[in-house]
Amino acid sequence: MPDTKFILDNEKCIACGLCVADCFPGYITMGENGPVYPGSCMMCGHCAAVCPVNAITLPELDPETVMDYDEESFKVDPEKLLNSIRHRRSIRNYRSEKVSPEHLSLILEAGRCAPTASNTQKTRFIVVQEGLSEFKELLWSEMPAIIEGMKASGSPAASGLSRFLDHKNSGFRDDLFFNAPAYVLVITDNVWDAGLAASDMEMVAYACGAGMLHSGYLKRVVSSSPKLTGWLGMSEGESIACCMLLGYPAVSYPRTAGRKMPKVTMK
Ligand SMILES: Cc1cc2nc3c(=O)[nH]c(=O)nc-3n(C[C@H](O)[C@H](O)[C@H](O)COP(=O)(O)O)c2cc1C
Repeated sequence: MPDTKFILDNEKCIACGLCVADCFPGYITMGENGPVYPGSCMMCGHCAAVCPVNAITLPELDPETVMDYDEESFKVDPEKLLNSIRHRRSIRNYRSEKVSPEHLSLILEAGRCAPTASNTQKTRFIVVQEGLSEFKELLWSEMPAIIEGMKASGSPAASGLSRFLDHKNSGFRDDLFFNAPAYVLVITDNVWDAGLAASDMEMVAYACGAGMLHSGYLKRVVSSSPKLTGWLGMSEGESIACCMLLGYPAVSYPRTAGRKMPKVTMK
C-alpha cells in the first residue's frame, strides 16, 4: 500500500541525502532508489522543507500552505525586528473598531506557525469578537460567585478581582477587557507552546498596527468558571494557557519602555 504520509516524487528526487541528514531522529534512511521513509515520525516537515527539488509532499501538513523561500519576501532586518520587539507594548486602551478579518487571519497564522514541543501542534485558538458583549455580560454576572470561590480556595487573585468588580460596578473601568473589541484564547496544556504562539501573534499584531494584552487575570477568571468555558465551547479537560486582548491601540508610545539590564552569564 502506498504511504500517504510521505509522498516522494521519484522523478524529481536527486538522492542528495539532505532529507536524511536533516531528519533529526534519524528515521529517514537512504535506500537504493532515494530516501526511505519508515512509516511513522513526528511530522516536523523538515525533510520536505530542506529538499532542493521539492520532491517530498507531506499531505498531513497542509502542503498548499508551504511557501518557497525568497530573500526579498522573507529576510528581516535584525535591527528593525529588534526595534519592533522593543516598541511593542501591552495595550490597555483600544479604538472601538473591530479587528479586520485580514489582520485576524495574519495573527492566527503566526500562532499556527509557532513551534510546539515534539511538533504535536495540539494548540487551538478561540477568537471572541462578534460575541464579546454577550460573553462580557455573562462573565460580570458570574463574577461575585467566581470571587467567592477564589476566596474559599485561598487564591491570591481574589482581592485583585474584588477591586476589578468595584471598578466595573462604579463605572470607573473594566480592568479585565479594558475596551478591547476582541480577545484570543490559546488552548493547550503546554504553557511553552502557548507562550511562543502568543508572543508570535503579538508581534504580528504589532506589525498590523494592532495591539494585544496578556491577561493573567482574565485567564484565571475564565478557567475557573464552567459556565464561561461552556459558553466558549471548550470541552472538559481542555486548558486555557493564555488569554490575550486584541484591538487597535487608542494610545501611542513615542518611545520604548525602560527595562532592567539583563542578567546574563557568559562562559
Ligand atoms: C503572563 C502575563 C500575564 C499578564 N497579565 C496581565 C493582567 O492580568 N492584566 C494586565 O493589565 N496586564 C497583564 N500583563 C501585562 C504586563 O503587566 C506587561 O507585560 C508588563 O507590565 C510590561 O509591559 P509591556 O508589555 O508593555 O512591555 C501580563 C503579562 C504577561 C506576560
